[in-house]
Amino acid sequence: MEFFLDTASLEEIREAAKWGVVSGVTTNPTLMAREGDVEFSEIIKEICDIIDGPISAEVVSVKAEDMIEEARPISKWHPNVVVKIPMTPDGLQAIKVLSSEGIKINTTLIFTANQALLAAQAGAYIVSPFVGRLDDISEDGMQVIRDTVQIFNNYGITTKVLAASIRHPRHITEAAKAGAHIATMPLSVLKQAMKHPLTDIGLERFLKDWEKYRQAQGTKESAGGKTAGRARGAVRT
Ligand code: E4P
Repeated sequence: MEFFLDTASLEEIREAAKWGVVSGVTTNPTLMAREGDVEFSEIIKEICDIIDGPISAEVVSVKAEDMIEEARPISKWHPNVVVKIPMTPDGLQAIKVLSSEGIKINTTLIFTANQALLAAQAGAYIVSPFVGRLDDISEDGMQVIRDTVQIFNNYGITTKVLAASIRHPRHITEAAKAGAHIATMPLSVLKQAMKHPLTDIGLERFLKDWEKYRQAQGTKESAGGKTAGRARGAVRT
C-alpha cells in the first residue's frame, strides 16, 4: 500500500519527502484554504516538484459543465496532477467526459461501496472512501474499504482504492489488510506510525551499553599501554 500525504503545506510535504516513503499528495479546498493567501496552481506545481507521484487537486464547481471547464486547465498544470471530483450525479457526468479525454480523476467524498463502484464505472482512476468521517458518525468506515476492494477484485476493476480521512495509525494497518492501494493521511499520523516507545527505549539501551563497553575497553587498553581505540567494525563477538 502506498502512503500519500493529505496536506497542502509545502513545509510538511518537504519534511515528509525526506523519509522517502511518500509517493503522492492529496489536497482539498479546506486544506488549500488553510495555507492562506496563495495561488492554487502555484502550490500544486510546487508540490509536484517535491513529490514525483499523483498529486490531487480538487475542483470547486458543482455543475457538470462547470467541473469539466475547471478540471481541464487544472489537469494541464503538471503531468502528475489528478483532478478531484466530488461523488455527485454531476460529478459522475464530469468524470465520464474527463476520463474519456485521458484526464485522471480521483473521486472524492465517497461513503459507500456503491458510490465507489459508480465512480469506477464512470472512469475514475482513484476512488476515495472517507474512513474517519464515517467512524465519526458511529459507522464502520473501514468496511467501505473492504467492500470496495472485494467488489473491484470480483470484476477486475483497475481503479485504485484510496483510504482517505485517516485519523490514526490503526486505520493504516486496517486499510493495508483490506487491500487498499493507497492511504492518505496527515503528517501527524504518518509520524505516529513510525514511532513506538519500545523502539526509543531499545535504542537508548543499545547506545548506553555501547558507551559502557567503549569506556571499559579504553580503561583496559590504557592499563596495557595501548591508547588507540578499536574501530566499531573490528569488534569481536
Ligand atoms: C482526502 O483526499 C481528503 O482530503 C481527506 O482525507 C479528508 O480527511 P478529513 O476527514 O480528515 O478532512
